[in-house]
Amino acid sequence: MTELAREYNAVNLSQGFPDFDCDPELVKMISAEMQKGNNQYAPMPGVWALRQLIADKINETHSSFYHPETEITITAGGTQAIFTAIAAVIRPNDEVIIFEPAYDSYAPTVKAFGGLVKTYEMAPPDFNIEWDVIKKLVSANTKMIIINSPHNPTGRILKEEDIKELITITHNTDILILSDEVYEHIIFDGKPHRSLAAYPQLKERTFVTASFGKLFHATGWKIGYCCAPELLMKEFRKIHQYQIFSVNTPMQIAFAEYLKNKDVYLHLSTFFQEKRDYFRKLIQQTKFTLLDCEGSYFQNMTYEKLSHLDDAEFAIKLVKENKVAAIPNSAFYSKPNNYKSLRFCFAKKQETLEKAVEHLIKL
Ligand SMILES: Cc1ncc(COP(=O)(O)O)c(C=O)c1O
Repeated sequence: MTELAREYNAVNLSQGFPDFDCDPELVKMISAEMQKGNNQYAPMPGVWALRQLIADKINETHSSFYHPETEITITAGGTQAIFTAIAAVIRPNDEVIIFEPAYDSYAPTVKAFGGLVKTYEMAPPDFNIEWDVIKKLVSANTKMIIINSPHNPTGRILKEEDIKELITITHNTDILILSDEVYEHIIFDGKPHRSLAAYPQLKERTFVTASFGKLFHATGWKIGYCCAPELLMKEFRKIHQYQIFSVNTPMQIAFAEYLKNKDVYLHLSTFFQEKRDYFRKLIQQTKFTLLDCEGSYFQNMTYEKLSHLDDAEFAIKLVKENKVAAIPNSAFYSKPNNYKSLRFCFAKKQETLEKAVEHLIKL
């Protein structure tokens, strides 16, 4: 869609990245580390100060301690953390439960290691999870469940009931969990982020993955991390050591310093909530139907009042004729569907959102 947006000179609300820059102070701090000569390999698990900071931050926000020596590894982005966790534990014919619509890297990575993907389909408008159906998907071969909250593309967050069900389903089993929490600090209306790190019965079986790209409005820097109990992290590092070995040194040092200012992450939800609310207010002038958005920087909308086309056809028409690019949500499902819903990214400047809606109003 981004290619098409470029070709047709459309406002691009498709791909999930901000069109505004990161904090110039952070850029200066990274540059200063380079000038100081911090340009050689970092330790394999990551720069100590950053691991220490992550441990303190998780302990403070979720009352959960990961040892920086043995339980936290800095990665080349959230996607690498996801890949490495899957590579570390999935073997041929292991079954992995994935909730669709899903971030696009999960299923191909599972399949690359011979795993079998079992999908549960969440449907608009509320994308709720019926846990009785999940229970039926679980078998003796279930090795992993992949969870993502706040969720891309739906903007849904895990509820306390979801956590309870997850605890019940995994109790007395060897099922592992991959909890993709890259949008942990983008959550709205005062709702809490329920990290699986905060629930001891889940933490013991979970790889939590995160991304600094989302935190710093710098998706191109590709640095993230994974936290897991020592036994799981040992397996994770066996892959990480030969896959990546170590991650960008000056950035890690600068991040550790920059994140001492807690406002950086504590303010993020307010910052994006203003954007969400502004975008939703503008969209009310159009014929799109807004779905809920509890977190992440994605707003889903359905267009049943506008067209009978399927979402891929409609999204292409929208770029070519109406100059706005969005992602057809069927791209996040493995089976065809006719939900007529699109994902719009609102991590954009006010004028970009206004320009997009100027076009959408005409529909
Ligand atoms: C749900 C989800 N997980 C992981 C990632 C990847 O993060 P990174 O860019 O740090 O690899 C993204 C990026 O869009 C995402 O939306």
